[in-house]
Amino acid sequence: LKYIYQFMYNERVLIFIIRLLGGITMENIKFEQKGFIGIITISRPSALNALNSQTLSELESTVDAVSADTLRCLIITGDGPKSFVAGADIAEMKDLDQKGAAKFSTLGNRVFRKIEKLPIPVIAAVNGFALGGGCELSMCCDIRIASENAVFAQPETSLGITPGFGGTQRLARIIGLSKAKMMLYTCKKIKAPEALAMGLVDEVCAPEELMVKAEELATKISLNAPYAVRASKAAVNKGMQQDIDSALDTEIDEFSGCFNTVDQKNAMTAFCEKRKPDPFQNK
Ligand code: CAA
Repeated sequence: LKYIYQFMYNERVLIFIIRLLGGITMENIKFEQKGFIGIITISRPSALNALNSQTLSELESTVDAVSADTLRCLIITGDGPKSFVAGADIAEMKDLDQKGAAKFSTLGNRVFRKIEKLPIPVIAAVNGFALGGGCELSMCCDIRIASENAVFAQPETSLGITPGFGGTQRLARIIGLSKAKMMLYTCKKIKAPEALAMGLVDEVCAPEELMVKAEELATKISLNAPYAVRASKAAVNKGMQQDIDSALDTEIDEFSGCFNTVDQKNAMTAFCEKRKPDPFQNK
């Protein structure tokens, strides 16, 4: 009951519900909550879950409604056995002029940055094609696990463009400069085992195991102290943009902030008393 109460009265969730009631129906995004875990599914099967403006806007509304009061981890996946996201919608992009392209890229980048900046960890469960905008969507998540049939690529230069949803920036940060440039210049399709070897994904499993593994991982994360998990994400993400001295100051801030929490006191007391801590309260 406590969690239903928190869920209903969370401001962002209310905005999300009001949007739904107001007729902004989610045609291409599904959202499900399982305990502390939220699952977003990109669902546009007719186009292998390609991201058009409508899907991006629906994704943005859904991400805006994510609350760290009720959720401890988020999973993003694609509908169906074949495709995570087959990229930005090529039919929509085809006739864009420069201004329209800038607007489309701004929308995609804004939504993906919101995902990246969510306080809770986000897992991409990559269930097939992760091409262009699909690879970029997976890269704004904290962790990527992929099914054996997953295929990654940045095919944009074969379409006469560059990546526009963060691919020119995040790819190099994740797999390194020269591997990123190889992918960008050649549009080479990278299958799951190679993606694992080059550090583009963190785990590969059988397709039927993907969501089980993703939920197991999300559950493992959600059993740790939520404040400490969020502080770890904040410290890593902020620190990666800083010089080492400033980054270590960021760590001192996040580390010391944990000592204001009930969960830290309870967990350390339990350790000293040689017993398991009570479940974390997110306080
Ligand atoms: N945009 C729009 N529609 C797409 C799409 C996309 N990115 N990817 C697939 N579709 C549509 C197809 O047009 C097709 O629709 P119809 O049935 O109406 O013809 C449907 O999805 C099924 O696709 P295919 O018939 O092509 O399926 P396939 O199994 O033969 O091939 C595929 C699958 C290899 C993924 C192929 O669809 C493909 O190459 N898609 C494009 C991938 C791509 O280049 N993505 C990058 C886009 S650019 C980008 O993302 C830029 C950015 O950063 C902002």
